[in-house]
Amino acid sequence: MDIKIETSRLTLRPWGEEDIEQLTLGLNDLKLAKWLAFVPHPYSTSHAKNWIKRCQEISNASIRPNAYEFAVELRPERIVIGGVSLNKIDWQAGTGGGGIWIANHYQGRGYGGEAFEAKIRFAFCELGLTKLVNGYFDGNENSWAMQRKLGYRRVAEVTSRCMADGRQTIEHVTTLLRSDWEDRED
Ligand SMILES: CC(C)(COP(=O)(O)OP(=O)(O)OC[C@H]1O[C@@H](n2cnc3c(N)ncnc32)[C@H](O)[C@@H]1OP(=O)(O)O)[C@@H](O)C(=O)NCCC(=O)NCCS
Repeated sequence: MDIKIETSRLTLRPWGEEDIEQLTLGLNDLKLAKWLAFVPHPYSTSHAKNWIKRCQEISNASIRPNAYEFAVELRPERIVIGGVSLNKIDWQAGTGGGGIWIANHYQGRGYGGEAFEAKIRFAFCELGLTKLVNGYFDGNENSWAMQRKLGYRRVAEVTSRCMADGRQTIEHVTTLLRSDWEDRED
């Protein structure tokens, strides 16, 4: 199922083999990967190939998959600058999770907020989910600033581990309710 989401500057679209180079370049960066739970470091071409294969399997598996994994492409350059996930979907509970990354060179220009907002809109308005769960590692103020701006609230703290550098850290768990999202848009 090939879902494409267009925003004013970005296209969110499925990952493909043509993205291996940009995906590897973006994630093979410890300054970025230290804020993500499940990205190994160094991040190699074979990691990227396996990830893309897994995304394709998930999206072909069912018309109601439990995850949507999007490459974030900058238009009109058609360069992949990051990735955004809507995963761990529980259709019965109406919930989903999933994070985001934007390659270092492209951060701080509003692309992360734009892509994350598009994913939220897709989850609530297209899929009918009612609650999104996310989080961020202690100290990741850029991620919290982005999430707070979009209406997320901090709800808990749990112990977590970063695969890239192996450190144990605190993860602030955050949630966004569709009702809060709808109120925010009025
Ligand atoms: C977190 C991340 C996705 C944000 O993406 P981004 O494109 O850099 O963020 P944006 O430019 O859309 O910023 C959104 C808001 O967050 C804040 N913010 C984000 N990056 C910032 C920075 N470098 N300096 C100051 N504020 C920043 C600002 O409040 C901004 O609001 P504004 O547009 O009104 O200024 C990106 O920094 C990233 O990929 N970081 C590494 C991986 C990561 O942390 N992923 C999230 C894991 S929880």
